[in-house]
Amino acid sequence: MAEQEKYSMVKSIRQSPPVDLSIPYDSAWLKNKTILITGGASGFGAAFVRKWAANGACVIIGDISVQKADQLARDVRKETSNPRVHFVYCDVTDWQSQVNLFKEAVKRSPHGGIDCVIACAGVAGTDTLQTPSGLDALAPSKPDFKVIDVNITGVLYTTHLAFFYLPRNPGSTDCSPDSDPANTPRDRHVLLIGSVAGLMPLTIQPQYCASKHAVLGLFRSLRSSAFASGVRVNLLCPYFIDTPILPTSARVMLAGGGTGKVEDVVDAGTRLVADSRIVGRSLYVGPKVKVRQRDDGELVLDEGGEDRAVWEAYADDWEDAELFCRRMIRILNTITQVKGWTGWFKDMFAALLYGIGR
Ligand SMILES: NC(=O)c1ccc[n+]([C@@H]2O[C@H](COP(=O)([O-])OP(=O)(O)OC[C@H]3O[C@@H](n4cnc5c(N)ncnc54)[C@H](O)[C@@H]3O)[C@@H](O)[C@H]2O)c1
Repeated sequence: MAEQEKYSMVKSIRQSPPVDLSIPYDSAWLKNKTILITGGASGFGAAFVRKWAANGACVIIGDISVQKADQLARDVRKETSNPRVHFVYCDVTDWQSQVNLFKEAVKRSPHGGIDCVIACAGVAGTDTLQTPSGLDALAPSKPDFKVIDVNITGVLYTTHLAFFYLPRNPGSTDCSPDSDPANTPRDRHVLLIGSVAGLMPLTIQPQYCASKHAVLGLFRSLRSSAFASGVRVNLLCPYFIDTPILPTSARVMLAGGGTGKVEDVVDAGTRLVADSRIVGRSLYVGPKVKVRQRDDGELVLDEGGEDRAVWEAYADDWEDAELFCRRMIRILNTITQVKGWTGWFKDMFAALLYGIGR
């Protein structure tokens, strides 16, 4: 067996191979799943709710926007003839409010469990981090950290509750890249919503940019360990897309450039939710472009090429792909190999003693 195969971290964490976007998924796989979504009243969330309810999922929307969410739930129930679309008020920055959302979701779920959790609630807006008080102010004023509260604390509360409730989903089994999505209705899935602002700098909104880098870090950490709870964790990283979150400043900045489409975000999100074989992957969704792959593997814009809006991002954390990763992983694998089981027992013993001694 090749060294690479023998000590493959990717295999140990049960991560699936890069998503093959040419393989179709079936929206019918959503049928009978119970999906909890925060921030489901507007934008991507609302579009997900429409799509998933139309395909027979039970959807529980948690949002602060009471009027919008309530109206959406009523409209979708009527349009889809699916009675299992519910709104529960939830402020994601409030722990008790999120606990209540999850409890209500379990109560309203036809099978008494939650199959999928989408941490979609998010805010952006004018960021005064670098210009807090105006140049004529004599003293600094307390900064507004709402973006951090919603986009980080809120997402962490959602994630924590997901890891409590998903393994308690009756009849669910550990997630697996080898599962059959047509026969895996009792799933255990967390879908995080990152952003292109988590992959690169967003000059005008440092807090938003920091919050989405945090979501990326959360994803990369969770995807290495979530297998222990049988939970699969995936990430969506949309580029700028026309929804109410985009402030005027962003629209001004983007003028003349491309924006992505909500329907492409829904397509990518639905693939991740429906296909139980996708474990620990992240998809970037941008403006649709025509591209062609050159012989050296490089992608170039080409009018005659394939139409593409969705790409895999951060695919290779544990692969022998980047120079840094390659060096580190080789070193770590070599250490593991040299230490063997004797080394493992020694380290374990030391770790337990450390715990007892504290
Ligand atoms: N639109 C884009 O360009 C874009 C790009 C990348 C990532 N995103 C991310 O996608 C997610 C959805 O954004 P969207 O574009 O649909 O925006 P949106 O403004 O249309 O929707 C956000 C939803 O979150 C809800 N929300 C805000 N604060 C909340 C709170 N404290 N508790 C509960 N709900 C709350 C809002 O009421 C709203 O329904 C966000 O996480 C956002 O950061 C958006």
